[in-house]
Amino acid sequence: MNRENPPAGIDLDRPNAARAYDWAIGGTANWAIDRQYGEKALAAYPQLRQAARANRAFLGRAVRYCVENGVTQFLDLGSGIPTMGNVHEIADELDPESRCVYVDIEPVAVAHARILLEEEGDPDRHAVVHADLCNTREVWKAALETGVLDPDKPIGLLTVAVLHFVPDETGVAGSIRAYRDLLPVGSLYVISHLTDSEAETDTKSQLQQLKEVSKRSSTPGVLRSTEEVRAFFGDFELVEPGLVPVGDWHPDDLGSTPRTAIGGVARKVR
Ligand SMILES: C[S@@+](CC[C@H](N)C(=O)[O-])C[C@H]1O[C@@H](n2cnc3c(N)ncnc32)[C@H](O)[C@@H]1O
Repeated sequence: MNRENPPAGIDLDRPNAARAYDWAIGGTANWAIDRQYGEKALAAYPQLRQAARANRAFLGRAVRYCVENGVTQFLDLGSGIPTMGNVHEIADELDPESRCVYVDIEPVAVAHARILLEEEGDPDRHAVVHADLCNTREVWKAALETGVLDPDKPIGLLTVAVLHFVPDETGVAGSIRAYRDLLPVGSLYVISHLTDSEAETDTKSQLQQLKEVSKRSSTPGVLRSTEEVRAFFGDFELVEPGLVPVGDWHPDDLGSTPRTAIGGVARKVR
């Protein structure tokens, strides 16, 4: 696949989060409409790129944490267009038997993940599903039908930088509750999410402008408070240091990062 030959079902009339995020972190799976949108988003919130990179670094640390704590199979919802440090690659470095199913709603993300897995993946251990994460039963069924995941062993469920594209009206709270119920005890749930809870007044207004800009895309943004994000974890127990700005979660460098993306990892204990 290339830019002149986009996958079926792709909406090139409107920009979209997967492709604009790909542009923001230096990828090439994006179109002019996504880049123009990305520029407008950057004008609204100039730290967007740093926030995206900090989020991506958090994803890597969270996956490593999961594997180091015995959770070696992943269901990655809103996995995005593959770029540096994809979940299956990070997990494979620590455990060559690790497993991963990617799920995304955007055809470009799915097509690129398929190509990458065909080239570098192991069909017994890696798969990709094209679906809306809100359809929990459908996603769960499709993920298990790949044969990649063992539903009797703990799973690392990831919703990293995706729930802020899924408004409350979709019933997302119920969808996430259903995933929590389906996961076996011992599973870990990883979330990151944009918030203005921790932001200074200027940044709060920039985030509001970003939200306005995103209304022109097929994936309008939703800002949730820290408490609203925490609610997605339900009765899972947050591991230290809790739900914090992503740069503060098990930091592995001393660089400062925006406090607008928060993240955490929680364990299903009962
Ligand atoms: C900003 S990217 C995040 C990618 C990756 N998780 C990361 O953190 O680097 C958000 C992704 O979520 C996907 N997405 C948005 N809404 C979705 C939904 N309802 N179901 C599945 N994927 C969705 C978008 O297509 C996009 O690929």
